[in-house]
Amino acid sequence: MPLLLPSSLYGLARPFLFGFDPEHAHEITLDGLARTQNTPLACAYAAARVEDPIQLAGLSFPNRVGLAAGLDKNARCIDAFAAMGFGFVEVGTVTPKGQPGNPKPRMFRLPQRDALINRLGFNNEGLDAFLANVQKARFRKQAGGGKSPMLLGLNIGKNAATPIERAVDDYLACLDGVYPHADYVTINISSPNTANLRSLQSDEALDALLGAVAERREALAKRHGKRAPLFVKIAPDLDDAQVAVIAATLQRHGMDGVIATNTTLARDAVAGLPHAQEAGGLSGAPVREASNRVIAQLRAALGKDFPIIGVGGILSAADAKAKIAAGADVVQIYTGLIYRGPGLVRETAQALQQDRRRA
Ligand SMILES: Cc1cc2nc3c(=O)[nH]c(=O)nc-3n(C[C@H](O)[C@H](O)[C@H](O)COP(=O)(O)O)c2cc1C
Repeated sequence: MPLLLPSSLYGLARPFLFGFDPEHAHEITLDGLARTQNTPLACAYAAARVEDPIQLAGLSFPNRVGLAAGLDKNARCIDAFAAMGFGFVEVGTVTPKGQPGNPKPRMFRLPQRDALINRLGFNNEGLDAFLANVQKARFRKQAGGGKSPMLLGLNIGKNAATPIERAVDDYLACLDGVYPHADYVTINISSPNTANLRSLQSDEALDALLGAVAERREALAKRHGKRAPLFVKIAPDLDDAQVAVIAATLQRHGMDGVIATNTTLARDAVAGLPHAQEAGGLSGAPVREASNRVIAQLRAALGKDFPIIGVGGILSAADAKAKIAAGADVVQIYTGLIYRGPGLVRETAQALQQDRRRA
């Protein structure tokens, strides 16, 4: 696929998009991607994928840069993101039933710090619509020339209306639905915008959830004749002791990887800036340090072979390298894509490829 300067094109598009309220800009962008994917117009953002394969959790990742969950909650634009050169794309979070999320406005830019605050609250169209979109995606059929297809992660959560004591039911319902279509499944227990969700990260709750999920995976593996890896996505707002307990629980239940991290509740890095006091999760540059700290703790606790997907505050190739240095095997990007555009995908994937060649 031709590389048509996605960075400079994004340089033109960004002031236009930033002229809109952030959620509106997001909708315009996703609508544009959904309409243009798999058409010649996709050349506006398409880039040749960097081929830098890595084996992780039994999967072959074509390169080490992925799209983080939450940008394409309804899985409408998978082929567009595949065209940007991502090695893997994670869509969702999906919940069993569709739900509107929190009242608007619920997404804010903090451009002075390359950051966003969001309290969307898992707004999504629900599992059935999500699966219909996933099944329409063509990226697997399009991978040719002996290249391995991009990997697809499906990220699952709970409905706001489901009491936290019944959260397991929602995760199992989603797991049943997404399992046959996923290269990997992410159990998201770290959004700050669904009441009490993060309490699922604590000892007994996590033990019960992961026990149930692991048991269901065995049944699904038999039924579908494939063993999809399970990743658990955690928050950056955890102390050393909490990270240690989570690490032990992941290993005890045979989880295949951990995604670190989600957005942060901390505000010190943005104190005094417009919107800094909005409720929700802070992403982008200000979450980078906390995310890297959690990754380093996880690596120390989990040993060298346990897969860690690093996410939080990657806005440059250097940031991606720092995540790998902290202990991540592969990385994901969300806020960086908003501030830097799709050129960031190739830039980071290339830098990580060069690092590996040098090593
Ligand atoms: C607007 C917005 C919505 C998000 N929604 C989700 C979500 O639905 N599920 C999820 O697991 N993470 C979600 N995230 C978290 C991101 O996947 C990522 O973990 C976090 O933003 C840190 O990475 P970044 O600094 O590159 O954005 C969301 C982030 C943003 C900014």
